[in-house]
Amino acid sequence: MGNLMIRPRRLRVSSGVRAMVRENTLDAGDLVFPLFVVPGSRVKNEIPSMPGNYHLSPDMAEEVAREAYEAGIPAVLLFGLPEYKDAEGSSAWDANSPVQQAVRRIKAALPELVVITDVCLCEYTDHGHCGIIKGQKVDNDSTLVRLGQTAISYAEAGADMVAPSDMMDGRVASIRQALDACGFQDISIMSYAAKYASAFYGPFREAADSAPQFGDRRTYQMDPANAREALKEVALDVQEGADIIIVKPAMAYMDIMHQVKTSFRQPVAAYNVSGEFAMVKAAARNGWIDEKRTVLELLTGMKRAGADMIITYHAVDAAKWLRDR
Ligand code: PBG
Repeated sequence: MGNLMIRPRRLRVSSGVRAMVRENTLDAGDLVFPLFVVPGSRVKNEIPSMPGNYHLSPDMAEEVAREAYEAGIPAVLLFGLPEYKDAEGSSAWDANSPVQQAVRRIKAALPELVVITDVCLCEYTDHGHCGIIKGQKVDNDSTLVRLGQTAISYAEAGADMVAPSDMMDGRVASIRQALDACGFQDISIMSYAAKYASAFYGPFREAADSAPQFGDRRTYQMDPANAREALKEVALDVQEGADIIIVKPAMAYMDIMHQVKTSFRQPVAAYNVSGEFAMVKAAARNGWIDEKRTVLELLTGMKRAGADMIITYHAVDAAKWLRDR
């Protein structure tokens, strides 16, 4: 075995050589940091199942957004816990709800930071479903009107981008029309195009107080067994005008990310969801894995699978680790 011609190890001999042949890189500029906004002021309460993530009043959301921005993160994604809930989810499009207040504050303080707002009704309805209930069902078409109204309200507050996560059919087209009719042609739509009915949303639903009060989300979110259907969902959203496509969750859906990346020309975002985050945190806290190495490996894996950007609760930690490297 003295004369092996091809020795892949030659390109792993030193960190310099490894850097030369590295195929994918992870950068703070790839990351989006989600924030949970609550009513009030000076509120910053850690979310128990999501260490390092907080319930933030609008003033504190501005402070945390600044920390993310200073760490090199280009965007935040806002979720809200409203003052009141009703059957229609009307606090979603209330100009004085926490998200609208936070958008105004963050854009005034940090105009360069991209502010994205999640568009969905589940945090705002008293039944916790993502749309309007008729009979025992989530009614698609009456929900579209409310989603459009909600998107307009965020755009009026100054959001740069809206991210519909409800999984109603036709929502991208109807949000696009609603925004354009109000002169918001330049507000982008980042669509949760392939969003699965996943067990990994558990910590989020507790954090956002958005668990459905009856039934589950399987009549609108996708079956985890399906891949072809994801491409159909993405194709529809692209046709309807989605600017950026989200695949969610990330870790169990890397194949979907890869297929979306190779089949479409739209930028793709991976959503590294709350349950994925919590698993890593819990194992790290037990001393079972090295948190920093694990997180950077997972996020790099998402890039390799095809993600152009990653929405992650690890964003600020990861950005700091990348800077110190
Ligand atoms: C709202 C929404 C959810 C998430 C993002 N937007 C919850 C759900 O669909 O039940 C989950 C995010 C996460 O788990 O990190 N529809």
